[in-house]
Amino acid sequence: DEKRSLIIVSNRLPLSVKRVDNHYESSVSSGGLVTSLSGLTKSTQFQWFGWPGMEVKDNTDREEVSKSLSKHNAVPIFLDSGLAHEHYNGFSSMTLCIPGRWHSLAHKTTDRILWPILHYQSGVTFDDGPWQAYKRVNELFADQVADAAGNGTLIWVHDYHLMLLPELLRTRLRNQGKACAIGFSLHTPFPAGDFWRNLPVRKHIIEGLLASDLIGFHTEEGARTEIPNQIQYKDRLICTGRFIIGIDPQKFTDTLQTSEVQARIAALEQRYKGVKVIVGVDRLDHIKGLTQKLKGFDTFLDDHPELQNKVVLIQVAVPSREDVKEYQDLETELSTLAGKINGKHATPEGTPLLYMHRSVPFTELTALYSIADACLLTSTRDGMNLVSFEYVACQENRHGVLVLSEFAGAASFMREGSIPFHPANKSEMSEALFEALNLSDAERTKKYMYLRDFIHEHTSARWGQTFIEKLSARTWDRAGAS
Ligand code: UDP
Ligand code: G6P
Repeated sequence: DEKRSLIIVSNRLPLSVKRVDNHYESSVSSGGLVTSLSGLTKSTQFQWFGWPGMEVKDNTDREEVSKSLSKHNAVPIFLDSGLAHEHYNGFSSMTLCIPGRWHSLAHKTTDRILWPILHYQSGVTFDDGPWQAYKRVNELFADQVADAAGNGTLIWVHDYHLMLLPELLRTRLRNQGKACAIGFSLHTPFPAGDFWRNLPVRKHIIEGLLASDLIGFHTEEGARTEIPNQIQYKDRLICTGRFIIGIDPQKFTDTLQTSEVQARIAALEQRYKGVKVIVGVDRLDHIKGLTQKLKGFDTFLDDHPELQNKVVLIQVAVPSREDVKEYQDLETELSTLAGKINGKHATPEGTPLLYMHRSVPFTELTALYSIADACLLTSTRDGMNLVSFEYVACQENRHGVLVLSEFAGAASFMREGSIPFHPANKSEMSEALFEALNLSDAERTKKYMYLRDFIHEHTSARWGQTFIEKLSARTWDRAGAS
């Protein structure tokens, strides 16, 4: 059997590249998408296109980077700052674009405009300069992907950075006489109609998306935002659907069994003997509701003086998008708030809040998940939230409780197995936490088993397979139609 050929496109490649002496080495980074695709390698021959995460100017260096990535079936899309600069200045008289900063300018659109709008945040100021950069980056992706695709190749595009790509690809592929099914997966919420009006270029974005044959969301965005399962647009039929992205639970189980992690778990359990541990793991992002989380925890401590020295919140805030001012401001706000809360509630025995502004290695992460009696996730909006899945994957022994904001995508599936709450309501959060820490063993086990079944049924591998099957079915639709 000939293997089906598939091209995956995402803004970033799932690999990290680094320079070692005079050559480059790349290693696979973790992530839901990467594991979900590893399940597909048997039936599919795939290549992954994306930005390598660093600027490479010199042509010899570019060749070296490409060579090292090709060992992992990955193809770098270098963003040629010279060309981009020229294009940009030809288009607009503003001189916003500094050569070499092209990608980061495009990021302004994604991080400061698109990302907040997709997550229902108000107060976004639209800027034409970054928008031009966003378009240009999408075009550069389209040029390379279209050239690399063969007739019949399946193309699977990911996330909000590349929403114009389906249409740009469609045009190029048509000109080259190639018939390819194009799929698009959005990993963020898809806001309801009226919210899109905050984005003056929404028409371009939606039209970009509508050139796909299949559009996937994580949750029932369709039902909520009145997107039908099939859309007839111009002369084409577009299918939409819900595809639940998951994790690879086995990876967590295996890591938990290593002696290194077992030793770490034992040490942490000793350290927190007699203390209830609540864990939180989030990228430092507004959408994660970290301000609300710290304030809610403060209320919880106020409400329960009897728990003094008996409860601790370990919050890992993973640094993210640190060159964007809004993210820097959020970090300042959080560290101030963390200081105030500890100032108010500390005793000579210790502080109730451990705020860690850094990333943690995977082994440490699994140990933290495993020793926590509860996991508190307070997203104000979130595409899915995989941390909620990961916590469950590490709770085989403890049956800890997931306290999950009703605004996380995951909450639409996990309601029964978690304690849902509204993240803006401090007293509701405080009550939810108290309830979580006081559930009977039987109730905890019942909730745990519900969630365990869910995460084992909806794995990342299944997500990848389901999407690709549906996308190849669209290829036949198209063949039948023509
Ligand atoms: N994570 C990480 N570094 C850390 C801690 C966590 O990369 O120091 C991982 C975490 O294990 C999870 C991912 O980051 O897989 C976060 O995914 P999620 O869907 O929860 O949120 P996102 O960051 O995609 O908004
Ligand atoms: C979210 C987005 C991803 C993005 C990630 C990290 O999960 O859906 O597309 O890669 O955040 O953000 P970053 O800006 O570091 O790529």
